[in-house]
Amino acid sequence: MDQTGRGAGSGLRGRYGPWAVVTGASDGIGKAIALSLAAEGFSLVLAGRSRDRLDAVASAVSAAGGQVIVVPGDLARQAGLNALFEAAAPLDVGLVVLAAGFGSSGAFLDGDVDHEREMVRLNCESVMLATHHFAPRLVARGRGGIILMSSLVAFQGVPWAAHYAATKAYVQSLAEGLRRELAPRGVDVLASAPGPVSTGFATRATMTMGKAERPEVVARQTLAALGRQGTVRPGFLSKLLHGSLAPLPRWGRVLIMEKVMRGMAGRGHGENAVRG
Ligand SMILES: NC(=O)c1ccc[n+]([C@@H]2O[C@H](COP(=O)([O-])OP(=O)(O)OC[C@H]3O[C@@H](n4cnc5c(N)ncnc54)[C@H](OP(=O)(O)O)[C@@H]3O)[C@@H](O)[C@H]2O)c1
Repeated sequence: MDQTGRGAGSGLRGRYGPWAVVTGASDGIGKAIALSLAAEGFSLVLAGRSRDRLDAVASAVSAAGGQVIVVPGDLARQAGLNALFEAAAPLDVGLVVLAAGFGSSGAFLDGDVDHEREMVRLNCESVMLATHHFAPRLVARGRGGIILMSSLVAFQGVPWAAHYAATKAYVQSLAEGLRRELAPRGVDVLASAPGPVSTGFATRATMTMGKAERPEVVARQTLAALGRQGTVRPGFLSKLLHGSLAPLPRWGRVLIMEKVMRGMAGRGHGENAVRG
């Protein structure tokens, strides 16, 4: 028995429990992953900016029987990361899911550069810093898992979401490299690369999504792939889009993604960023 009073059991909790850290847990994919982990018997550290929404997720985790700690804060700031690291310090954390992130769309030159810098800080810098902080703890305990949120857009340049795609290429590359470094030390690293998912993401990124996957499907397929694959493309749409793009040379994929993103990028970001 561990400090939660429950046995390790089998499955995900047996492999990676008892505690998991989930960033971006207040909404969307991170929230769906947190709720799936709670149903698997994990205790959870939940991070995000909105205390109210984190508290609502925490209530559902408690109802599932797990312990829960809520850490509200801006993870694009060192103070926010430090609060998370401090809260997790005394806990036996075996799984780290870094889902906090956001996107932008439209003409790069029309974007607000401070907003874009904020995106690099959250999508890239905070992911690097949190991975660098938690990975040694997982290595020290001899087993663990790290899930990084990549995207369908990570595998080629994407006009009209050029900078967001670049941040996800960073995450994808980091996950692929770390997977090989950490596997011999008992730590599974997974990149999850969904296509469009119906969350709060599109509104913040000023994107319009036609078809979109449910976050619960992304959560389920992502968790099922941990320890089995290096990259998972959760949901039907990501598999379909990947299947159509994979045979093309990289420049061809850029052209296709340009057409796709023209149809999704928000208006008001430049005269070219209209729906096609
Ligand atoms: N939705 C998609 O189509 C899609 C596709 C591929 C990949 N992804 C990736 O999946 C991840 C999750 O996205 P989502 O679709 O779940 O979006 P979402 O519904 O907007 O959720 C984003 C989460 O990140 C948190 N967050 C945002 N800024 C933060 C900050 N500065 N500090 C701390 N937490 C912050 C949000 O909480 P607060 O607002 O409370 O801070 C929320 O919990 C992202 O990395 C995204 O790039 C999404």
